[in-house]
Amino acid sequence: MKISVSFIKSKYNEKETIKLIDKTDADYLHVDIMDGKFVEAKNYSFKQIEKLVKYTTKKLDVHLMCENPSKFIKDYALLNTEYLTFHLEAVKNPSDIINEIHSYGIKCGISIKPSTSVQSLMPYINDIEQVLVMSVEPGEGGQEFMTDVATKIDQLKEINTNFIVSVDGGINDETINYVRNADMVVSGSYICQSDNYQKQINNLRT
Ligand code: DX5
Ligand code: ZN
Repeated sequence: MKISVSFIKSKYNEKETIKLIDKTDADYLHVDIMDGKFVEAKNYSFKQIEKLVKYTTKKLDVHLMCENPSKFIKDYALLNTEYLTFHLEAVKNPSDIINEIHSYGIKCGISIKPSTSVQSLMPYINDIEQVLVMSVEPGEGGQEFMTDVATKIDQLKEINTNFIVSVDGGINDETINYVRNADMVVSGSYICQSDNYQKQINNLRT
């Protein structure tokens, strides 16, 4: 199982956090972007992210919690981005966004909120490389894992085309047991609020 680390809730500032994540064997740096519209909180500008990601060689797994994802695609395509993920609930024409992301040679993810069904993803499922299942309401780190989203992982794994299934929110060494058949987990506060990032990552892997 791959591990993608979110740095928004940490003991240290962003720069120190990203440097510490870089030293671990985590697979990706998960970059949460909030626009103050799709979610209440507004966090980083692209300029800030551009500076921060200089402190890691990890590939980026970018999660756009934004009303207008199209606005961000060109910028994030310039970085070391492997996955660029937008929310199904945020857009009117998901296929246009998928095409736009693919036009930069980047893998495309679609994220669904806890209340959004797997069924609603079906028209796009063959065209994307990641489904990001939210196990908390998008908008902040450090929330409690919602156990009932685990059935979505099983539903998605049964479909078995060429996308990976990733889970985001409230993942720790206990809640990970609900989502063992996911291909990737995003974990933030469990790792970044500890003194030993690698130890926490090892706990998730075992
Ligand atoms: C929630 C974000 C998540 C979250 C992960 O809006 O998309 O990536 O910050 O952090 P934890 O593991 O603390 O829930
Ligand atoms: Zn996220």
